[in-house]
Amino acid sequence: MLKNKKIVYFCKECGYESAKWMGQCPGCKAWNTFVEEVVTPAGKNASGNRIAAAPQEPVLLNQVRFEEDMRFKSGMEELDRVLGGGIVPGSLVLVGGDPGIGKSTLLLQVCRTLSSREGMDVLYISGEESARQIRMRADRLGGFSDRMQLLCETSLQSIRNVIERKKPRIVVIDSIQTMMDEEVGTAPGSVSQVRESTNVLMQLAKGLGIMIFIVGHVTKEGNVAGPRVLEHMVDTVLYFEGDRYASYRILRSVKNRFGSTNEIGVFEMTDKGLNEVPNPSEYLLSGRPENASGSVVACSMNGTRPLLVEIQALVCQTSFAMPRRTTVGTDFNRVNLLMAVLERKAGLALGNTDAYVNIAGGMKMNEPALDLGICLALAGSYLDIVIPDSVIAFGEVGLSGEIRAVSMADLRVAEARKLGFKTVILPEVCRQSVKDGSGIRLSFVSHIRDAIRLIKTERNQ
Ligand code: TYD
Ligand code: MG
Repeated sequence: MLKNKKIVYFCKECGYESAKWMGQCPGCKAWNTFVEEVVTPAGKNASGNRIAAAPQEPVLLNQVRFEEDMRFKSGMEELDRVLGGGIVPGSLVLVGGDPGIGKSTLLLQVCRTLSSREGMDVLYISGEESARQIRMRADRLGGFSDRMQLLCETSLQSIRNVIERKKPRIVVIDSIQTMMDEEVGTAPGSVSQVRESTNVLMQLAKGLGIMIFIVGHVTKEGNVAGPRVLEHMVDTVLYFEGDRYASYRILRSVKNRFGSTNEIGVFEMTDKGLNEVPNPSEYLLSGRPENASGSVVACSMNGTRPLLVEIQALVCQTSFAMPRRTTVGTDFNRVNLLMAVLERKAGLALGNTDAYVNIAGGMKMNEPALDLGICLALAGSYLDIVIPDSVIAFGEVGLSGEIRAVSMADLRVAEARKLGFKTVILPEVCRQSVKDGSGIRLSFVSHIRDAIRLIKTERNQ
């Protein structure tokens, strides 16, 4: 039965192909990433670079035509922001995320907006759900137009035929792990299958100038299942994430050929689908405790957007031989480092205390600009100082306790002003970069000791 089939080993990380199993991948040097797959020889030929099939002549860069207004708006501002300003025809966008986080819901809503508001021909291809299931969900979301077409199919050849015949402007593939190319001859979701399917889709997107959204599930390790090559092949990689138990969801761009990365879009999951959250800082700060020690608002940049979050810290005497430290939403080692700085450079005896640090709202943030906020929350909790609600702090803390510069201080101050904060504690070295200091008090600090002294006097005012 296996006569014209053969066994090939693929690296899960980079897609390296080998005739025998290896412990370390010669391509990307990752260990233990090879998986065995049975492929038919036809599949091997097919995995050659199909996109380069038609011979191409070099052209002069200046003579390449492009239209200024090539990008178009999706109608969802939060999505446009992460895409770098709108949808680019002919691009391939991967939307990754944990199962059940809301990828299908998001893309169905994108289809709804594009087909009804913008009047575009949209094709939603699902290999996971039946047409009836999708209809049920669509009814719950409401507002779909006649232009939206549905296809429940997993065979890539049929999908290709349909797309070539119907020429829709937007296609959604839900999900890449269910798609299969018969020529490859392996199970759906396998490395060669995912690679091959993406190849075909890329060819369709570039050839016909349609925008294709691909849904990809995320594995336990947090990568899109299948080979890393998938991420290399597509133009844009978006991750849809969030705490399953909290209602908000973040769409984050980690790779974008048409815009900046690290942009985020914030959504809220409701019983009628996802709603955009245009002002996430306000949303994240709602329900903040009043006059509580160990709580301070900090500011972190996500792409070009500043986000204000509440940092909470609880410091108490340990009853263990080794103090317990726990962090939620931020880097554990960074918090340990900052505690050591506070101990040595600001004279707080944190050596035998337990400490818990939490970024309220379930957000995950690792920007060094949060350092000062974390330090002040820890110091506030240890010294039992209530930092007024109207104070916000940002700045990186160095190992000698110095407060270092952070980028885009101006934008952060503007966001704080917009949300009605009265005082900003920020690095002295950012003095020049804050152009507009009106309507808000700026307290520049150059050492963590000064910052702690400041919150002590702030309390007495
Ligand atoms: P779904 O889009 O199916 O997730 P994915 O495609 O990423 O696997 O989202 C499913 C979850 O979203 C499900 O747990 C229910 C929730 N949900 C709502 O809360 N409200 C809604 O209107 C919809 C459609 C889904
Ligand atoms: Mg789904």
